Amino acid sequence: MANNGLDSERVSTGIEGLDALLYGGVPSKNQVLICGGPGAGKTLLSFEILYNNAKRGIPCTFIALEEQADTVIKNFKKTFTEFDDVDELISKNMIFVTGSDTATKIQAGSDSEAYSFSGVVSDIESLVKTNDSKCVAIDSVSLLKLMLGNVLVYRKSMVMLATNLRKMGVTGFLTLEMPSVQKSEVSFSPEFFIFDGTVVMYQNWEENKRVFNIEVVKMRGSNHSLALSPYEITNRGFKVFSLSEV
Ligand SMILES: Nc1ncnc2c1ncn2[C@@H]1O[C@H](COP(=O)(O)OP(=O)(O)OP(=O)(O)O)[C@@H](O)[C@H]1O
Ligand SMILES: [Mg+2]
Repeated sequence: MANNGLDSERVSTGIEGLDALLYGGVPSKNQVLICGGPGAGKTLLSFEILYNNAKRGIPCTFIALEEQADTVIKNFKKTFTEFDDVDELISKNMIFVTGSDTATKIQAGSDSEAYSFSGVVSDIESLVKTNDSKCVAIDSVSLLKLMLGNVLVYRKSMVMLATNLRKMGVTGFLTLEMPSVQKSEVSFSPEFFIFDGTVVMYQNWEENKRVFNIEVVKMRGSNHSLALSPYEITNRGFKVFSLSEV
């Protein structure tokens, strides 16, 4: 089989500038957080990574916990107008967009937090198995935090989630809302330590303009660039600039 971006070592994001920061991609089976403030592009970025992988023949699952699956697809197509094969990939089950039932259960809560969370993990497991996915996005894990108020329970549950995804052999992209959007104000929450990798999307204000930057904060099992790279959302997907392009 031709190099499909999913070799034994790395999963390409399909976004040239981001792959450059990652020295080729995310180590296979790593569970990677994509963190940022409101409107940073977390949902679009995680969906685009799956889209790029699905195009290479890798089955993917997008688990939408914050928005309806249809809304996520609609916004993705509306933003990335040059991607004309989104519906085709979805209809071929190469991108399985789901999550409403899981989100409803999370929002409904349960008397037993631990039971409820194992239920979420096993729901995610069966969703991933539906099309034998190798790449999964969960948007976002912030909802799970609300369900698990106790810090220790939350931390243990997140470890359980990451371990399960790894055992299933999938590479995971999990979005996380950050209360601070400027680099100077970011504090490292527990998730930064639990998951294998962390990519942060910052927003800074330069004169009267908001500027978006992306950084790989950590990536277990791999070296990566330490650069803070500006990015833009274009109708052909994310554009992450290398420093020489700025
Ligand atoms: N056509 C477009 N061209 C450029 N940028 C766009 C376009 N459409 C949306 N955007 C940008 O994408 C952002 C929304 O992206 P996305 O929904 O992925 O953000 P998010 O980080 O997931 O936000 P939230 O925290 O609300 O879930 C918008 O705030 C806007 O800045
Ligand atoms: Mg979002």
